[in-house]
Amino acid sequence: MSVVVTVGCQWGDEGKGKIIDFLCSGADLVSRHQGGNNAGHTIHADGKKFVFHLIPSGILNPNALNLIGNGVVVDPFVFIEELDHLAEQGVDVTPDRMKISGQAHLILPYHRLIDELNEKRLGREGIGTTKRGIGPAYMDKAARSGVRLFDLLNPSVLRQRLENAIPFKNELITKVYGGSPVSIDELYNSLLECGKRLAPFICDAGAIMEQALKENKKILCEGAQGTLLDIDYGTYPFLTSSNTTAGGVCTGSVIPPHNIDYVLGIAKAYTTRVGSGPFPTELFDEEADLLRNAGPVGEFGATTGRPRRCGWLDIPLLRYSRRVNGLDGIALTRLDVLCEVPEIKVCTQYKIGSETHTVLPADANLLGECQPVFETLPSWKEDISSITQFDDLPQNARDYVAAIESWLETPVAMISVGPQRNQTIVRRKMFS
Ligand code: GDP
Ligand code: IMO
Ligand code: MG
Repeated sequence: MSVVVTVGCQWGDEGKGKIIDFLCSGADLVSRHQGGNNAGHTIHADGKKFVFHLIPSGILNPNALNLIGNGVVVDPFVFIEELDHLAEQGVDVTPDRMKISGQAHLILPYHRLIDELNEKRLGREGIGTTKRGIGPAYMDKAARSGVRLFDLLNPSVLRQRLENAIPFKNELITKVYGGSPVSIDELYNSLLECGKRLAPFICDAGAIMEQALKENKKILCEGAQGTLLDIDYGTYPFLTSSNTTAGGVCTGSVIPPHNIDYVLGIAKAYTTRVGSGPFPTELFDEEADLLRNAGPVGEFGATTGRPRRCGWLDIPLLRYSRRVNGLDGIALTRLDVLCEVPEIKVCTQYKIGSETHTVLPADANLLGECQPVFETLPSWKEDISSITQFDDLPQNARDYVAAIESWLETPVAMISVGPQRNQTIVRRKMFS
């Protein structure tokens, strides 16, 4: 197998960073294809904790090249901060093992400002964004008024792009939102400085990818966010602004569709969500707290620190995720956490009035009316966090995994039983 795509199956934070870090030891190239520093991918390795927002989670493998594809929106100031922070942690990232597509769009300070001002304007109706400027940057990309990494290498083009964009942004910021305007000169000068630092990282990613595919290199594609946050397939409008699903790899990192060998869906053994929007299996109060506080690391956002909303595993949602991603297998994460609950509930279908839905309906407006139908399974009391073989898991844990496989008609290829690299059960090798 040479191209493995990872996608979050739920609303993000499924443990993608942990799984990618585990898999990347077998990869030659790790690439991100969408999203930006709204992502927060946590990795525990070599006795340290790393949280990656923009840089691919493969960076801890010294042998892999890491690529940020054209589909990502890049905040250049955050990229530099992450480089510096990694260097402080003893990981020096040089341009020979980290590249960014020049076709990727920039997140600029006015995108961040507009994101924040717009969330404030919407108040309780807001999306609950990470306020990193993601939506406004993708808006400019689609409106053909964005600035790309390549533009940083050409001062006169950069100046022109800013002259075209900023006067209108300032009208919006000051007259619609009542905010403070952005200075073209200040931004231009700071971007010129960024450009000098970033120049050795900026590349024609298509040429690199084409060569890697030709040489049959092992390529791991790192999804950010999750299927239900996808701009097309997610719970519109409560989602992010990129294609988080498997197809995003083709448009966001120059991988032709026929080159994808395996789509690995990463799903938590229960469900969480950060931000607003429908969540059919959501729990509240003490029941939610039980899941939120269980395990060695609780359910709090890696990017914003917000408490994550928690609920039981949702099979109709995962069937939908299988449908839109074409999942070949699942990496089931945080299974260890379930030893702390007295019994496990799983939603296997929804009722909307008298209708039964086995797959999450595409019309997200219906989700508020979905009544989950639960099945109850026994949990287990044993600590499973040091088990590395499937057959050594307690019977009830094996039965839970088997039930998921049967409900989804999809194999569980990997199981994660803790945040550390070695707390992983492999049932199917990704890179042979
Ligand atoms: P991502 O955005 O999908 O990479 O996920 P996050 O890093 O935002 O959140 C997942 C959290 O769960 C992180 O704190 C991980 O360290 C942790 N984690 C990952 N896999 C496991 C697991 O199998 N068990 C436990 N207990 N924690 C895990
Ligand atoms: P990872 O990669 C969880 C959510 C935000 C908000 C919505 C839109 O760590 O799984 P945005 O800032 O993208 O415009 O916010 O999407 N969101 C995430 N939730 N994990 C993420 O990333 C997320 N990235 C964005 O909370 O509801
Ligand atoms: Mg996360």
